Amino acid sequence: MDAETSGAPVASDAAEAERIADAFLAGAVGGPTARRAARFHTLDVAEVRPLTDDAVEVTFAVPDELAGDYDYLAGQHVALRVQLDGQELRRSYSLCRPPRRGAISVAIKRDVGGRFSTWAQTELHPGDRIDVMSPQGSFTTRLEDLDGRHLVGIAAGSGITPLMALATTVLARSATSRFTLIYTNRSRTDVMFLDDLADLKDRYPSRLALHHVLSREQRAAPLLSGRIDEQKLNTMLDVLVPPDTVDEWFLCGPFELVQLCRDTLTARGVDRRHIRHELFTTGEPGQAMPNAGRPVTVAENEPVCHIRFTLEGQSATVDSPRSAHETILNAALRVRPDVPFACAGGVCGTCRARLVEGDVRMTENYALEPDELERGYILTCQSHPTTESVVVDYDV
Ligand SMILES: Cc1cc2nc3c(=O)[nH]c(=O)nc-3n(C[C@H](O)[C@H](O)[C@H](O)COP(=O)(O)OP(=O)(O)OC[C@H]3O[C@@H](n4cnc5c(N)ncnc54)[C@H](O)[C@@H]3O)c2cc1C
Ligand code: FES
Repeated sequence: MDAETSGAPVASDAAEAERIADAFLAGAVGGPTARRAARFHTLDVAEVRPLTDDAVEVTFAVPDELAGDYDYLAGQHVALRVQLDGQELRRSYSLCRPPRRGAISVAIKRDVGGRFSTWAQTELHPGDRIDVMSPQGSFTTRLEDLDGRHLVGIAAGSGITPLMALATTVLARSATSRFTLIYTNRSRTDVMFLDDLADLKDRYPSRLALHHVLSREQRAAPLLSGRIDEQKLNTMLDVLVPPDTVDEWFLCGPFELVQLCRDTLTARGVDRRHIRHELFTTGEPGQAMPNAGRPVTVAENEPVCHIRFTLEGQSATVDSPRSAHETILNAALRVRPDVPFACAGGVCGTCRARLVEGDVRMTENYALEPDELERGYILTCQSHPTTESVVVDYDV
């Protein structure tokens, strides 16, 4: 047995990933880009494992009866919901392990001044129970035709989490696939999954190319030291990963890095459809203060917009006063508290729905890809009706 195929955990991960992917492809649990019911269930925290001084991996136990709700594709994310100081907080976290039965794991890095991530770092313990939404998101790849394909991930900081799941799954799933990972951090002590990545490299020495870039530490190779700017990125594309050898790109990190990578790749002729990105935050101050659920009252004879929406097969209508300039999500929450959302800032895509009738103005969109926009998808947390009535469908 060679180094690339040995190791029991890989075999079981691969088999489980394959089973779940096949179920998706067969339409059993909805596709990676298809809508699945976004429901919260309360799960037990099974393990909290320190990854660095300011990051933890949190594993939740998934009971058999909920297995179907938590099947996922590598690259997807969940929303966690807690009440802190009498206020509900919802935050999204990418699933960091390849799909397996009985457990899901996220990796949470503490954001300085961040409420949820600081709480998770200091207060979350095995045995605690918190609300976890079923996995969502389309930052994933088609698993059925990986043979001979070369995928590249560029990640910064906690942006490694979906790429850990993707790289592990892709390499385990096809013996002829390749993965290149460029992972940038400030210093070695900030690197999440340092040992897991080294193990993955040992397991797939010829098919995984792993490049750690440290912005505040000198590495032997100057190319892997310092911030990634346009010049450095272009050199990396010349030397480490020529774009014409790559089938699909996955970018996950701060807005500026993702934008730099997207622009540089596009300028070098990479088809935009082969570049996927996931943002964790826009870096905009105030984005951390969503207004979903803001109370709005409708006065008599006030001009309104009629909003009709379908969620989990059931339709509902709600009137939104024109003067309130509220979003579809905000209005819909008045009549259906289970309408899905997490960031309420246009970043996570959890509130995605298809516009069936009418028109809207979308304030921000950091989540939907051009092909989703073309197919009529909108982020309801960012969409303000501009016609007298609108109809949206959360189920498609
Ligand atoms: C799809 C998706 C996947 C994600 N996956 C991961 C993941 O795998 N791992 C991970 O660690 N994170 C992930 N995130 C980010 C995560 O959801 C949270 O945004 C992050 O943990 C910070 O949450 P928090 O509550 O700790 O910070 P918040 O309290 O929301 O604060 C965020 C930042 O804003 C600052 N801030 C807060 N209030 C103000 C204010 N009034 N004015 C100015 N600045 C302010 C804080 O200091 C902090 O730096 C993901 C996000 C998305 C959308
Ligand atoms: S709830 Fe996150 S994009 Fe709308």
